[in-house]
Amino acid sequence: MSDTLLPPIGMLAELTHRCPLQCVYCSNPLELLKADKELSTDAWLALFEEAADLGVLQIHLSGGEPTLRPDLEQFVSCLSRRGVYTNLITAGVGIAEGRLERLRDAGLDHLQLSIQGAHAPTTEKIGNHRGAQEKKLEVARKVVELGLPLTINAPIHRHNIEEVPAFIDLALSLGAQRLEIANVQYAGWALLNRNALMPDREAVERQVEIVEEAQWRLQGILAIDFVAPDYFAIYPKPCMGGWARDAFMVAPDGKVLPCHAAGTIPTLHFERFGEASLTDIWAHSEAFNAFRGDDWMLEPCRSCDRKEIDWGGCRCQAMAIAGNAAATDPACIKSPLHSRMASLIGEANAIPSSNAEDFRYRRIGRA
Ligand code: SF4
Ligand code: FES
Repeated sequence: MSDTLLPPIGMLAELTHRCPLQCVYCSNPLELLKADKELSTDAWLALFEEAADLGVLQIHLSGGEPTLRPDLEQFVSCLSRRGVYTNLITAGVGIAEGRLERLRDAGLDHLQLSIQGAHAPTTEKIGNHRGAQEKKLEVARKVVELGLPLTINAPIHRHNIEEVPAFIDLALSLGAQRLEIANVQYAGWALLNRNALMPDREAVERQVEIVEEAQWRLQGILAIDFVAPDYFAIYPKPCMGGWARDAFMVAPDGKVLPCHAAGTIPTLHFERFGEASLTDIWAHSEAFNAFRGDDWMLEPCRSCDRKEIDWGGCRCQAMAIAGNAAATDPACIKSPLHSRMASLIGEANAIPSSNAEDFRYRRIGRA
């Protein structure tokens, strides 16, 4: 590793792509991996040990649905022994009796529960799973009863943006410590469903006012994080905190990537854990070094005074909209393609709401 390259702080482990839900906003890739492609228990344990050696301080155990891995307790226990903070990201459906207790006893530090709607019919429609809400609320109550910190993740789009006040009430009634009002990022299945999911500008503006008022009113009671919708922004977010700056992710088959959508950049090759060590990949992988720092930047990013704030935005969004991963993220007002975002909003909003529910549900083997 070079003298100036710092070790990663965070890692997202996508343990599996299998999931009982079929959410239309899922950011997983269209080519979902089947169970026989997943890393074995021993391979994940070796990977976690190396991540801890490398300096990773927190690991998000995600998927798909990570609780479908029967070895999850082993992973939590290994990471806990190594002093790594563990966050379980779950949809809260299909978790067996006693499992949450076992995960807590194994040393789990935090649980993040996704809820697709503040009201049951919305959750059922978005995840295509009958009875999902009841199961999720049961998980939330159990997590609080076990004394684990709980975050509710609410992925926001056209079909639930008016439920933001109800999400806030729900998070309060469940005793959550944190609520993430996270406007959908258009990657993977969400990109495929973009027209169906895109809200309109008035709804986005109402949402911002509601969230800002609640953040002020609920200080010290409920922390509310707001992930703004890129398509309505004037500046992009520093995606992943900047490409390969302080975090990375691992796909179910052990492929190591700078972010969850990096596989959509066709010029990059990603190594699997086992073909190379995490340490080598972090320091020397061509894909990790492709957009590190600012040497790769084109104008207007190259001479922009915000370049070390947002690192040029999201490489995968630049790929999807500009057709060039090195371009300025079109979410930025300085991008020559910024007006394309407004056109995409307009195209999506022109679809009558009856057709807007023409969802393509996430399913393995059905891209
Ligand atoms: Fe960020 Fe590039 Fe836009 Fe400047 S020009 S604000 S660095 S995306
Ligand atoms: Fe890949 Fe933003 S999702 S850089």
